[in-house]
Amino acid sequence: MKMDVLLGLQWGDEGKGKVVDVLAPQYEIVARFQGGPNAGHTLEFDGIKHVLHQIPSGIFRSQILNIIGNGVVLDPIVLKKEIDGLAKFKIDYKKNLVISKKATIIIPTHKLLDAAYEQSKGDKKIGSTLKGIGPTYQDKIGRSALRVGDILSADFNEKYTALVEKHKNTLSHFNHPIDALAEMEEQFFAAIEFFKTLNLIDSEYVVNDAFAENKKILAEGAQGSLLDIDFGSYPYVTSSSTMTAGACTGLGVSPSKIGEVFGIFKAYCTRVGSGPFPTELFDQTGEAMRKEGNEFGSTTGRPRRCGWLDLPALKYSIMINGVTQLFMMKADVLNIFEEIQVCTHYELPSGEKIDRLSFEISEQDVKPIYKTLKGWNCSLEGIDSYEKFPAELKEYVSYLEKELNVPINLVSVGPDRSQTILK
Ligand code: GDP
Ligand code: IMO
Ligand code: MG
Repeated sequence: MKMDVLLGLQWGDEGKGKVVDVLAPQYEIVARFQGGPNAGHTLEFDGIKHVLHQIPSGIFRSQILNIIGNGVVLDPIVLKKEIDGLAKFKIDYKKNLVISKKATIIIPTHKLLDAAYEQSKGDKKIGSTLKGIGPTYQDKIGRSALRVGDILSADFNEKYTALVEKHKNTLSHFNHPIDALAEMEEQFFAAIEFFKTLNLIDSEYVVNDAFAENKKILAEGAQGSLLDIDFGSYPYVTSSSTMTAGACTGLGVSPSKIGEVFGIFKAYCTRVGSGPFPTELFDQTGEAMRKEGNEFGSTTGRPRRCGWLDLPALKYSIMINGVTQLFMMKADVLNIFEEIQVCTHYELPSGEKIDRLSFEISEQDVKPIYKTLKGWNCSLEGIDSYEKFPAELKEYVSYLEKELNVPINLVSVGPDRSQTILK
């Protein structure tokens, strides 16, 4: 048995939560392997909308075990709030949710540091969600972080205090106020007490035992490939490995155990936060996409930047992840356009045309070169099979399949679980 991986191929918010929820009945385990509360994964069914930040999107299916893996950075305060919010859905989280003892804990000063670093960057700021992601991964790599298993040890408070003292030094260097800290710590320690009652485990054994028992596992990516720490538009990236390889280190799974890689992308592009975005639209078309797609961040509520689909970027993401199947999301958002543009190449300031994401590209003002396709320009409401799609939408799909050389096996036409068309 192998582990399938689902990940976003753009700058996040592709609709990962929705698709994991749709696919979940085919699996016994859904596992998060990186990121943390910077993620906001939306699920809609039975007329209710849920936004999950740290809990895997299989949580609403009672037969599924949801794992928060070692690669995740976890905020106990956010986790407690999320679990409290699920109370009305009668989810047996003690049975259906397990957390790796090797996951890293976000402590209150990580969030203050995030804000201090961002402020110090001025107009070069990353546009971080300010959830403490960068500083926590920094401590993990710097070998001074606290891990989930530490909360059970007698010297947890000592370890905590030593780390906070280090952070306070840095914060004072940045002249960053720490008035909010006392209240944040109060919430943090209350959440830690609650955390101790959860199912904390060595999840790498659970995952590998599951292979031996022929159980199917789906790894749920957060963020997107273009926010990856190595391959994204550095430094405007998140601090984790958002790609397929991250699922191996973030769960303790051998690369030879990776099965299907589902790459999910919007029929256009969005980005929140700063950084290069070659196809970004600053005109009415971009505004119309934002309105039609309700493109406002699930975690921060910030308006998302919008633009046409970027094929060089998509090809790059497919390449580094070894994508075997593509899922196209939010096709319905393009219903309003008579014509649809797709960026096939970039033109460099020198006039050279390229279709690769080189090291230098993020430093340059590249101009997208577009191919224009005919839009379907009609509602997709009520369509329940691929055959019933308007001809122009089918042409859009076949054009992309030809360019990307990977089949598009799912097209999403609305936020609800039911608005999902399999090809
Ligand atoms: P994630 O972070 O990748 O899980 O994506 P988000 O939940 O942050 O953002 C995706 C947004 O698009 C959410 O509001 C979803 O409810 C919504 N959504 C997902 N699929 C579709 C779709 O096919 N059409 C429309 N109109 N909205 C969708
Ligand atoms: P999901 O899983 C979209 C962006 C932030 C910022 C950069 C760094 O919902 O797709 P960080 O908080 O990680 O320090 O922010 O990454 N970012 C996301 N953008 N969706 C996300 O998650 C994101 N998580 C982080 O906006 O530009
Ligand atoms: Mg999101």
